[in-house]
Amino acid sequence: MKLFLIQILLLVVLFPSVGYCQQPNWEEVAPGVWKGVIGNPEMLDFLTVAEPQPNIAALNKLPDENIPNQPQQLESTFQDNSLYLRFPLEKEEQLFGFGLNFQTIHQRGRILNLHVDHYGGKDNGRTHAPVPFYVSSRGYGVFINSARYLKIWAGTAVRKDSENPPTVYDRNTDKEWTSRPYSDAVEILVPAEGVEIYIFAGPTSLDVVRRYNLFMGGGCLPPRWGLGFTHRVHRLYSADDVKKEVEEFNSRDFPLDFIGLEPGWQSASYPCTFEWAPDRFPEPEKFVSELLKQGVRLNLWTNPYVSPESPIYDAMEKFTGSHTVWNGLVPDLYTKEAEEILMGQFTKSQIDIGVSGYKIDEVDGYDHYLWPDVATFPSGISAEQMRQTYGIKLQKMLADIYKEKNQRTYGLVRASNAGSSPMPFVLYNDYYNHEDFITALCNSSFSGLLWTPEARNSRSAEEWLRRMQSVCFSPMAMINAWSSGTKPWSFPEVADAVRDIAQLRMKLMPYFYSEFAKYHFEGTPPFRAMYLEPAFSHSIEKVSSSSNLEDNPYAEAITKEIKDQYMAGENLLVVPMFTGQTTRKVVLPEGKWFDFYTGEFAGEGEIITVEPGLEKIPVFVKDGGIVPMMKPRLRSPKSGEKVDIEIRHYGTKDGNYSLYDDDGETFNYEKGDYCWRQISIETQPSGDFIRNISSAKAGKPDNIGNITWKQMTIIK
Ligand code: GAL
Repeated sequence: MKLFLIQILLLVVLFPSVGYCQQPNWEEVAPGVWKGVIGNPEMLDFLTVAEPQPNIAALNKLPDENIPNQPQQLESTFQDNSLYLRFPLEKEEQLFGFGLNFQTIHQRGRILNLHVDHYGGKDNGRTHAPVPFYVSSRGYGVFINSARYLKIWAGTAVRKDSENPPTVYDRNTDKEWTSRPYSDAVEILVPAEGVEIYIFAGPTSLDVVRRYNLFMGGGCLPPRWGLGFTHRVHRLYSADDVKKEVEEFNSRDFPLDFIGLEPGWQSASYPCTFEWAPDRFPEPEKFVSELLKQGVRLNLWTNPYVSPESPIYDAMEKFTGSHTVWNGLVPDLYTKEAEEILMGQFTKSQIDIGVSGYKIDEVDGYDHYLWPDVATFPSGISAEQMRQTYGIKLQKMLADIYKEKNQRTYGLVRASNAGSSPMPFVLYNDYYNHEDFITALCNSSFSGLLWTPEARNSRSAEEWLRRMQSVCFSPMAMINAWSSGTKPWSFPEVADAVRDIAQLRMKLMPYFYSEFAKYHFEGTPPFRAMYLEPAFSHSIEKVSSSSNLEDNPYAEAITKEIKDQYMAGENLLVVPMFTGQTTRKVVLPEGKWFDFYTGEFAGEGEIITVEPGLEKIPVFVKDGGIVPMMKPRLRSPKSGEKVDIEIRHYGTKDGNYSLYDDDGETFNYEKGDYCWRQISIETQPSGDFIRNISSAKAGKPDNIGNITWKQMTIIK
């Protein structure tokens, strides 16, 4: 008998695929953040890669919340060497997130296979940043900390023992019949023996996102120059071509803070040497320092695959995967040696001579390009986990180098994942659909990501201007002319309007910089989907009775999917126009909204139709909204430089705004070297205003020169 029991025990221990259910113990690991562990989690996950340092002080400032009841009702089963997780859903509940989706904001009703990949035109989970984190309209978030390919049924599957089963209809006679009946759960397949799960409290969806970002260490704070204009030149440009290009930007009065060099800066690429091409860049050190003297920084394209012609090839060989990418070695970033060799090369050849940042390309997919899932790596990390984390690991390594130098960087990356909120990198891709780029911009805000709807080329002057307008209201105002060679002024009919929008971007720098500081210190995404705007979720019910939620008829009451307008910072609502449109609808959240350009009343909690003309991208400001601006300029302000600002006030309500200041270049803000200046504007019954801005604290950065005030709305 005893022997029999031991045999059974051994069977369960050795072959846990027999199946079991387990409820995790939820432990509050940071204010409003709970961790639950199921089974034996793997050694490598997103948090071991991103190594976040939660901002506990900032988390403590968010409302004190209990653990949300709903997600802790999770059920789990272990079967077939995988965990099956099941989180309950309520009928009217809506889901957002799961990373960088391009066509949908609503995720309830979707089946996703979270897999780092180049985006293939469908929101099926294969994307540049398939972050396993979702936000519920009921004010909680769930993060699955597994660097595996996860399968998600987000409210699509129906269990026969469901407590909230869908109604059975007869297809022949009932109009209500649907091929996708109501499902009451998010179900997730994690191909591992264990996993950590994190629950984030609200109370609002925006608070959930804030908690996620703050738990990851707070959003990134770019250097000021990162928020200026950037131009990526043709891939075969030489040092002389670049110098001429900079002169042309100057003579045309077009802002330029950093130049991006594409593959041709390297002596060979795809795979890469990580060495300057001697014919095109004979004196790299001199070239970089001459640009820096003019206040123009340099960003370098690269992929991580090592060419046989690279000076690091031999040393790297032992620390690379079993398979190659374009005949290049794939560094095993989880060996110390590979990290040191690769980062050593970047440092010696580029960063030490003044290169300000990188564009990390080709770390996403396609499957045909990348290492296969059967590849092996010396560290023992699986090819799958390598794929899910490669982009985030490289971001972290580069960010650490710049941090060590006490110098901020801001670059680009084509793959990312959970834990990336503090990483100073913006996602991009080759997909180039303007409308979908805007949906991606909205979605990035649910998952601690930044996205640029870069402009490359266009079929018409109209398209060029429309794209430039969007890109100037995004985390990175960028032209990527790597193949087209386009210039901002390539379409003469709209060249002035393109300059105007780029200058507007520069004028808004005090505002955008403050909004990024709020991303860092408070976790609020600087560019956000409308659903994160508290006044929006309440008003949308009123403004829309129709629904395109065919996948989830029960969610009809809540929202129509709004994916073509977004919030830029605290006060601005941005409404991109697309080629061929002369008018479009704008959904204004509750409260009064005012035209950014004129200050005129635009509407109140309603849908309006705008006809802005080609020269303008419609932008609206909240009632009482304050927008600090500066004069247009070609380069962002230098550290310590005094800048005059104009403080605009819109609407009729009193306004308050926190204006952020620091040196704009270093990490000294982490030691307290920064200053928030409180702006307040009170409207008086007489129609006058009491305006105030707190002074800079003694010994803290003070870059603000003269201040002028501008009342944008004429109050009658
Ligand atoms: C692509 C990238 C482009 C450009 C190009 C250069 O992979 O998405 O932005 O950098 O490579 O070859």
